[in-house]
Amino acid sequence: MLELAVELGPRSYNISIENNLLSACGRLARGLNSNEKALLVSNPKVFNLYGNAVADALDAAGFEITVALMPDGEEYKNLEIASEVLDAAVGARLERGSLLFALGGGVVGDLAGFVAAIYQRGIDFIQIPTTLLAQVDSSVGGKVAVNHPQGKNLIGAFHQPRAVIIDPLTLNTLEDRDYLSGLGEVVKYGIIYDSQFFEFLEDYADNIAQRDNETIAQLIYHSCRIKSEIVAQDEREAGLRAILNLGHTFGHAVETLTGYGTHRHGEAVVMGTRAAAHLAADLGYITEGERQRISRLYKRLKLDFTFPELDPSQVYQSMLGDKKVSGQKLRLVLPRGIGRYVIIDDPGQDRLMYAAIIAQQE
Ligand SMILES: NC(=O)c1ccc[n+]([C@@H]2O[C@H](COP(=O)([O-])OP(=O)(O)OC[C@H]3O[C@@H](n4cnc5c(N)ncnc54)[C@H](O)[C@@H]3O)[C@@H](O)[C@H]2O)c1
Ligand SMILES: [Zn+2]
Repeated sequence: MLELAVELGPRSYNISIENNLLSACGRLARGLNSNEKALLVSNPKVFNLYGNAVADALDAAGFEITVALMPDGEEYKNLEIASEVLDAAVGARLERGSLLFALGGGVVGDLAGFVAAIYQRGIDFIQIPTTLLAQVDSSVGGKVAVNHPQGKNLIGAFHQPRAVIIDPLTLNTLEDRDYLSGLGEVVKYGIIYDSQFFEFLEDYADNIAQRDNETIAQLIYHSCRIKSEIVAQDEREAGLRAILNLGHTFGHAVETLTGYGTHRHGEAVVMGTRAAAHLAADLGYITEGERQRISRLYKRLKLDFTFPELDPSQVYQSMLGDKKVSGQKLRLVLPRGIGRYVIIDDPGQDRLMYAAIIAQQE
């Protein structure tokens, strides 16, 4: 088994990664919690695939489980559905010492974690992520939230899980598009934080594109290692953790201007990172050769998403967004060479528009 510790003092926890680990989730949870009752939150699609394996394992470990299923989709990551899951927790008479399990992708993990953060002022929860994005990113770090009509993740908390249990084999049923969306976030770690990991992605690009299980387990391990290191240094995103937003400022503009749902989040992050790389090259933080190296890796990983044809001045306005209203400055994370980052203040409309335009022509 591959194991990692997220070092956060009294809130520290382990990430365990192994094929078929779902069958061990009861035993792992029992090591952390002796309460009888537990709530298992999932959605119908994931529950049909993996619910029985998890429920059987929890049952065998002596947990009395109540299942709460939320509908599948980002549009259900909201307060109404959170409220229904809270009703299920109340109905099951969950106690302060009871456990909540989140079985699913980032949507289930974010909503279930949010419920765990507020039920009886916070109960323990365990993440059992089943999408690549959730296994490499959203299940680690304790950011939990639901959306508000006025914005994504507007209502949330920092609430660390007690454990993250990752079974890479669950990815075998994931659609290609969801797999690729998760990969978009994986490449980000190599670009801004770890040149050796970037080289690993280059060396094993074909295996990764072909979804080879062994390689994917390694890829998850290193992604979690990097995310844990960053979170351990900056749990509440006072500084360093913001580097995980590489490509996200341009990416959010793409998501907003094309309408949410047109591009998967990870696809928009790839598009945004391409634009960020052009900007970094323009400002001299990376060479043109390094920029092309990033582009080549995306291509080999089948992440060949180019920046969509959008009016560059609208892209700029969207990036400024509500920052302009609240008087905050636009800040951007850019690559500095391969494996390091730089954070810059708004480089001005011309440079940002230029980056968007040449990214469109790639
Ligand atoms: N908390 C954080 O730090 C953080 C970080 C990044 C993203 N997020 C959030 O994550 C969410 C996106 O997560 P996502 O990309 O996992 O989307 P998702 O949870 O919607 O999952 C994508 C699809 O895959 C299905 N699915 C899940 N596991 C499956 C499996 N093993 N086999 C087949 N299908 C499966 C889901 O039912 C869904 O239809 C967003 O809401 C985003 O805000 C949170
Ligand atoms: Zn992201």
